[in-house]
Amino acid sequence: MTRKDPLVDLLIHDLTGPLSIVLASVNSLLNKEDKLGPYNEYQKDTLKRAQRNAEKAKALLLEIIEVYRSEEGLFRKDQFLISDVLREALIDAVEVVTPAIGEELARADDNSFDEVLTRNGILIEVCGRYGESFFTHDPKKIRQILRNLISNALKYRKSTMKLKIAGDLDLVISVEDDGQGIPEEKQDYIFKRFFNLKSKKGGPEGLGFGLSCVKNLVEKMRGEISLKSGEGAGSCFTVRIPPL
Ligand SMILES: Nc1ncnc2c1ncn2[C@@H]1O[C@H](COP(=O)(O)OP(=O)(O)O)[C@@H](O)[C@H]1O
Ligand SMILES: [Mg+2]
Repeated sequence: MTRKDPLVDLLIHDLTGPLSIVLASVNSLLNKEDKLGPYNEYQKDTLKRAQRNAEKAKALLLEIIEVYRSEEGLFRKDQFLISDVLREALIDAVEVVTPAIGEELARADDNSFDEVLTRNGILIEVCGRYGESFFTHDPKKIRQILRNLISNALKYRKSTMKLKIAGDLDLVISVEDDGQGIPEEKQDYIFKRFFNLKSKKGGPEGLGFGLSCVKNLVEKMRGEISLKSGEGAGSCFTVRIPPL
């Protein structure tokens, strides 16, 4: 995908408007239940399904725009705490993959946030310099990388996901799950756009877009991404990013 790709330009431009209108309309119906309702279960479920899917389409569109920007090499330079960005990325990913835990997280205060995660098999370890010091980079890009790796781990884990933040100069993020793992011969392919291991059997689970975006971003950041996995052995993705 390059800036010169007119189809992508057109898609981004022409889909953003109508999608925003769909979302605003559905949200407005849902918010006005006291005036227009009460809605019956079927009406409510239908509106909520429309809302969820419009949100998903919007998220994907935003993701495409982000890749576009990263391909142009446009990075914002900001100083931020990794723990703040991590928290946002966790909420994003959990809400999409496991909405029930997402609701619990949204209700949690600072003290119970970690407890909700741990109880649901999401283990976080923050060590190294960026546990306390600011990291300098584009926080939105870091959030996008985290969100993608976390949502994959949540999607494919059996019961546990472990996330570790480390590093004393470069930021090192590793995201590990205890799922089926990825056989060695497939490990190169999963970073290709639109590749989905399941697509032959049960139909596409996702778009196969996430990891190619992550790899692309990480390379633009002059960092590295690696994978340790094997059939039945879980997966561990590690990303190293030098500060901007
Ligand atoms: N943690 C993981 N465990 C097992 N398979 C994975 C994992 N992460 C990614 N994959 C495989 O790689 C494919 C591509 O991942 P990704 O690019 O994130 O696309 P998507 O999540 O949209 O399917 C997935 O469809 C899946 O088959
Ligand atoms: Mg994914």
